[in-house]
Formats: sequence, structure tokens, C-alpha cells
Amino acid sequence: MGGKSASYALSAVSALEGATAFVPSGFTARRSHFFERLVGNGFANLLRVRAEVESALSVNGDGVLSTAPLADALRPESIPSVKAGKRHDRVLAEIDQEGFSFAVDPQDAPFFEKRRQRNPRNLNLVDIVLLEGRICIRKRYRNFRRGALQWGKPIPLRARLQRGVWNSLGLFLYSEAAVLLRLSDLPFVPKLRAIDLVDCAIYMDYVQGETLRQGAARTGAAVYDRDLAGTSLGDLSARELERREVSLLDGAGAGGNFRREIAEMTRQMNDRGVAPLDIKLGNFIRGATTGKLYWIDFEFARIQTQPQWEDGLRLQQDTLANLFALAANDERESGKGAEKVA
Ligand SMILES: Nc1ncnc2c1ncn2[C@@H]1O[C@H](COP(=O)(O)OP(=O)(O)O)[C@@H](O)[C@H]1O
Ligand SMILES: [Mg+2]
Repeated sequence: MGGKSASYALSAVSALEGATAFVPSGFTARRSHFFERLVGNGFANLLRVRAEVESALSVNGDGVLSTAPLADALRPESIPSVKAGKRHDRVLAEIDQEGFSFAVDPQDAPFFEKRRQRNPRNLNLVDIVLLEGRICIRKRYRNFRRGALQWGKPIPLRARLQRGVWNSLGLFLYSEAAVLLRLSDLPFVPKLRAIDLVDCAIYMDYVQGETLRQGAARTGAAVYDRDLAGTSLGDLSARELERREVSLLDGAGAGGNFRREIAEMTRQMNDRGVAPLDIKLGNFIRGATTGKLYWIDFEFARIQTQPQWEDGLRLQQDTLANLFALAANDERESGKGAEKVA
């Protein structure tokens, strides 16, 4: 666990008020306190994000959802089946747990598929779709897959039940949608394009490019779950593995100036009242056209109108400091913050 600070360990917990997906094993001492507060904050968090999404869409729904495409959007014609005339809305490919895509139409396989073996997703379902002439990501919010493992262990029943309850109330969908709407003027965030409350799904721009995690894997070192299984690295915690990915990226000099970019993106998001909490290399995509970095995956984020906004900011800083050595805060201050959150 070299270098993992106490505040950092606690950070991972408080990122998930309203969900317990990443509660580290061994986290027991403060558990009851955490769960006591969980329900209250979960509802307050849900009410804020839901109200925000509803009001943004009722005031300017069409405008918000139909802005210009991203600079790194994928052109539909570059996909073989679309070029061949299949222009109707449909699912083009499924994205697996490691971020690899698998085509639905066999003629698209050479375009989408970089890996043979599909690793089923543990939680949400993510697909690449054609929606009204745009290539989008469809993210369907779901509970843990049957048989899903977390840090090599089955998901505890309690975590599964909690995820199920909050998910059925739409907490994760509304959280991500609210963040995408708050950040809709930022060029490095995919635009929200549609919400499907029946299927519990959102649609956003597909960014053509490679995640920084995929960049780390290009070094040839084992990064993906399937490659780690059976090696001694399989015993490392999720956070230790994430730090290792950053070292690999640094070692290969493959990430560009990602620290400066992430720091600047964070500042702009904070200015708009968003504190991203699920910060890891897999959630940054380097655009294939512009070479610019995009930030994705805001299911776990704190917005300024929710309780614990200040704590969320401290948590964000702790994570940035621990993962990227991006120290924007006084160490003692941020440590104190994380203790308070937990
Ligand atoms: N807007 C997007 N553009 C391109 N790929 C995306 C986009 N959103 C998600 N992905 C791909 O899908 C994967 C999973 O999406 P993510 O939102 O991170 O889901 P989860 O919350 O389950 O981690 C990402 O790692 C990335 O490979
Ligand atoms: Mg992700």
C-alpha cells in the first residue's frame, strides 16, 4: 500500500454517497456513521440533480441538446455499415469493461474491434450508437452484473441493494446529466444529447480517441483486468493499480502534458460548480483529431448546490494529489477535509 495516505483511502469512500460501489475492503470503523448519513445525503443529492436537469431541459431543452458536434466527433460515414447505407438509428457497438468496442454489424468489426475477447461490464452498460445522424455513447445505468467481482471479491449484498435503490430512483443518471448540462459550454466535455428515463439511459457525444489508460497499456505492461489476472499485480488495490497506470504513462512519456491539462480542466469545472470525484486515467480520452484531452464519466461528482460541496472539493484535491501529485491544496488542510467527509 506504499504511499497511500489515510485521507486518500477515506476519499474513495465519500465519493460515493448514495452508492457503495468502491467502498474499500477493510473499511469498517466508520461504516455505521457513513451509512447513517448516507440516506439523508443521498436524497438531498438526488433532489438537487433531478431539479437541475428538469429545469435546464424545460427552459432550453432543444438548445441544450442540439449544439454543434465536438471537434473530435466520429463522422458516421467513417463507419462501414453507415457508408453502405444503413443510416437508421441503432446500436453500432458494445463497449466492454476494459473500454474495448465490439461491433454489432459484422461489416463494422474491422473498424471497431481491437481485441478478441470481451470482458463483460460489471455495472453500467455502454454502447456506441447512431442517433439522429450523430455517433453517440449510450450509457445505461444498471446494478452490478450477477457474478461481478470487486477487488477480486463478490459484491456484498448490501452494496448491491443500495446501488439498486439509488439507481432505480435515478440518482446516477440525473447526477451525470446535471454535470454534463452544467459543463455544456466546455469543449473538453461530451455534450448530452438525450435522456431516456424508461431505459434509465443517457446519450452523449462519442469522442474518437484513446483513453489515457489505453495509452498506459500501450507500453506493453499488463493493465487490463484480464492481463492482470494470475499475476502478483492482481493483489493490488484499485487505487494502487491506478497509480501504477500513471507511472506507466509517465515512463512511456505517452500522456503529453496531461497534468497541466487536468489541472486546467478541473479549475474550469470547479468554476461551474462541479467537483469530479471519479478521477482516473480511464476517464480521460485524448481526441484523435485535435490531440486535446476530454473528461468523461460524471456519475460520481458533487455539484455546488448539494450538501458537502466543500468536502467534495477537498476530496477532488486529495485524489488529484494522490494520483497525479497535483498538489493544489495544503496537505494538512486536505487531510482534515477528508476526515470530516468520512
Ligand atoms: N463520450 C465517450 N466517448 C468515447 N468513449 C466513451 C465515452 N464515454 C464512455 N466511453 C467509453 O466507455 C467506457 C466506460 O464509460 P464510463 O462513462 O467511464 O462508464 P463507467 O461509469 O461504467 O466507468 C470508457 O472508459 C470509454 O472507453
Ligand atoms: Mg469510467
